[in-house]
Amino acid sequence: MSTTIESPRAIDVCWDGVDLPSLAQKLGTPCHVYSASSIRQRIGALQTALRGLDALVCYAAKANSNVAILQLMAQAGFGADIVSAGEMRRSLRAGIPAQRIVFSGVGKSADEIVEALAVGVARFNVESEDELHLLQRLAAERGVIARAAVRVNPDVDALTHAKISTGKSENKFGVGIDEARRWFAASAQLTHVRLDGLHVHIGSQMLDLDPIRIALQRVADFWRELIGAGHAINSIDVGGGLGVCYRADRDRPIAIEDYVAAIRHALTGFDGRILLEPGRWLVAEAGALLTRVIRVKQGRQRCFLVTDAAMTELLRPSLYDAWHEIVPVTREPRPAQTYDIVGPVCETGDAFAVDRELPRCEAGDLLMIRTTGAYGASMASNYNSRPLAAEVLLDRGRYAVVRRRQTFEDMLAGEQSVQEWENA
Ligand code: LLP
Repeated sequence: MSTTIESPRAIDVCWDGVDLPSLAQKLGTPCHVYSASSIRQRIGALQTALRGLDALVCYAAKANSNVAILQLMAQAGFGADIVSAGEMRRSLRAGIPAQRIVFSGVGKSADEIVEALAVGVARFNVESEDELHLLQRLAAERGVIARAAVRVNPDVDALTHAKISTGKSENKFGVGIDEARRWFAASAQLTHVRLDGLHVHIGSQMLDLDPIRIALQRVADFWRELIGAGHAINSIDVGGGLGVCYRADRDRPIAIEDYVAAIRHALTGFDGRILLEPGRWLVAEAGALLTRVIRVKQGRQRCFLVTDAAMTELLRPSLYDAWHEIVPVTREPRPAQTYDIVGPVCETGDAFAVDRELPRCEAGDLLMIRTTGAYGASMASNYNSRPLAAEVLLDRGRYAVVRRRQTFEDMLAGEQSVQEWENA
């Protein structure tokens, strides 16, 4: 006997005051939607939790680097954590001042460092000795002083997916405390780098506070040791990594108050500036991907729902086997059925869900893939020559297209047939 699923909840049909079926009708699918109200709520909750601390939130732009999203961060007085010149330019364009931008990443190129020095970013989170020396040389050549923090790799298991774990010694990120200690000991030779900060980021989608506490403790111990050795530490950047709820029945995110309490506790007595780099926590749950069922295909063993969204719009299930809730955007009760929900891309891994029970669907039905506000559109690609999807900001009954759907001409811009061969 089949069960009937009364799904989805009304919120899925109307979100942030906007009726999703008519929006999808108007703008087409696939289409990313973001609720500005939800993002503002998260911003407000974080600001409340941080009250009384000298803290600057540098939103990790990689989570969702749409300029309109960055503008919401700018309006809140937040800065940005960037990992490329592209993210820096986006952040500046959104109105985030350079003095609130921190530059992280293991592979900053000389050109990127030069550009960041020219605009005057607040801080470089330096991840290798080679980078430190390059920064010193480039700053000296320009006669400027670069502010820098060492990204410490505290060798802590973040207890998250291996592909988004960054704080173990075998990971490419940061340097061990022994090496960082040597940098400070030799820092008098850095005539154009002021090494006066510590940075740590051990992983993403963390649902357990213990690894965070351990990492903070190691950094705090190191800060006290450095102070004891006569070094000035003016900023401690605690990174990002706060997890969100993808599966209501399993994921128990860390309460923001508990997270900030752990920071307060570990850094008691620190009188410099605390930087935070949350990405996902601010935007993930505020986003959804709207997609239409192209067809229902009954295979020999499984029933496939083929959607017009693919791994090109949301890579997380293909890359990390990530679980995203999927609901039809309708209020009609329908009998349940089990599907594999797949995209049109020519890869077996192009699947959003396997063996997922949904209310029965038919071609043309609108689905909502939830919790896609972070690492959705920002990880998109043109694979299979699929145009980038539209992105839409919803705000209390209004909406604005914040990225129009890419056209075929947009996609080919820059590509050309051979005009003339150059002799190599
Ligand atoms: N700071 C640094 C130095 C980072 O590398 C990251 C994320 C963040 C901050 C922000 O972390 P969040 O608060 O968003 O967890 N594509 C993966 C996530 C990769 C995260 C990379 N670094 C995913 O879809 O799960």
